[in-house]
Amino acid sequence: MATILQRYVELHPTSRRLHARAADVFPDGVTHDIRHAEPFPVYVERASGSRKWDVDGNEIVDFVMGHGALLLGHGHPAIVEAVAAQLPRGTHYGASHELEVRWGELVRELVPSVEHLRFTSSGTEATMMALRLARAHTGREKVLRLREHFHGWNDSVTGQPRPEETIPRAPGLPQGFLDTSIVIDQNDVTALERTLREDGGEIAALIFEATGLHWGTDPIDIDYVRRARALTAEHGIVLIFDEVITGFRVSAGGAQEAYGVTPDMTTMAKIVAGGLPGGCVGGRAELIDQIAFRAGRTRIAHPGTYNANPLSAAAGSACLALIADGAAQERASATARTLAQRLNAVFREESVAGCVYGQASMLHIAPGMEAQPEDGYGWGWHALPARPPVVRAATAAALRRGMMNEGVDLMGAGMMVSAAHSAEDIDHTERAFRRTLRAMKDEGLLTG
Ligand SMILES: Cc1ncc(COP(=O)(O)O)c(C=O)c1O
Repeated sequence: MATILQRYVELHPTSRRLHARAADVFPDGVTHDIRHAEPFPVYVERASGSRKWDVDGNEIVDFVMGHGALLLGHGHPAIVEAVAAQLPRGTHYGASHELEVRWGELVRELVPSVEHLRFTSSGTEATMMALRLARAHTGREKVLRLREHFHGWNDSVTGQPRPEETIPRAPGLPQGFLDTSIVIDQNDVTALERTLREDGGEIAALIFEATGLHWGTDPIDIDYVRRARALTAEHGIVLIFDEVITGFRVSAGGAQEAYGVTPDMTTMAKIVAGGLPGGCVGGRAELIDQIAFRAGRTRIAHPGTYNANPLSAAAGSACLALIADGAAQERASATARTLAQRLNAVFREESVAGCVYGQASMLHIAPGMEAQPEDGYGWGWHALPARPPVVRAATAAALRRGMMNEGVDLMGAGMMVSAAHSAEDIDHTERAFRRTLRAMKDEGLLTG
């Protein structure tokens, strides 16, 4: 019988050829690190709703969903219509326009922390600007962040400085950035209290992913978030929620609305722009208004050719209007919860140690996790009794390849569930998961 890898190669001959061309142009033949796959990635031709089709004609239930940007699925008719209507009217005016005003108003209506905001072209730009604003406001340089939390590839939050390392983990990064970075473990209140007591006077900002590292792969404790809010306020430190993924997904107002905890600033991207490029930084007016010309010589410059471009503004405002009442989030979260229960049942039925857990519409698959969750367990903010195991890269790659052979695309070892996923998609995914676990078991890929 063919192995998972052999089947993958057999099913994707055109992707393989395209990748051979791509490898001549791009490092690894890909245009985003997360798309790197051995022996080659799958090339997609079109997408609609919960599905996409690759260049070899394979139909795929998509759980990458535009790296989390597509809460409403691919090509929602209202978003397509808004973009199509805007296209002939102009893609860039080099001028202000009404759509950007509407878009900004919608963000402010939905996200509790936002008094004022500025649009950017990406989440990375949003975290860059948030940290600059925090540093300027406090007159301090250090940034406190939590281990393995991801904020894009901006220099202030890249690399994990460790005293024992002689070679920086982020080649090309000036030492000054590492020196101004303090990294502590998530959920460790004692470490947070100690760091703020010892270095609080030098720290400009605390930034973290609102639901925990790697979109909640290791969930953050809400009590920790509450304590962080209180302590940063005490020490005059700007608290920044990175809601690039969780914004508008966890609830219409993001994780902050669900928690009832309001940060000083919030970074957003992905869903905010309705599937087109875009992001924003929003927060307390006194912080964001450092960008205003009236701030005089201490103002912070904010250019950006594609800031609030008409196409992203059209897609973003159409999307935010559609999801403002929270119904799409509820639907996606309910689907994710059912999927978690069904896939956990497969783990049990196949006698494989493992757990699917998650929050809102974000799921994570942890083969090897000892606990066999019952219904409801493994779900929500306080669901896990202990840190989930780190899924070995080889196991995650085999799982993803195996699921792709069965017509399901995972986001790493997880799933971004959308409001477009249906009961049929759940059935399909359950079957695919069972077959993949069996194939992995047969090949001895589930041990260790
Ligand atoms: C939490 C978080 N912050 C920031 C970013 C960077 O956003 P972008 O890829 O738009 O630069 C990402 C991207 O996935 C993210 O997940």
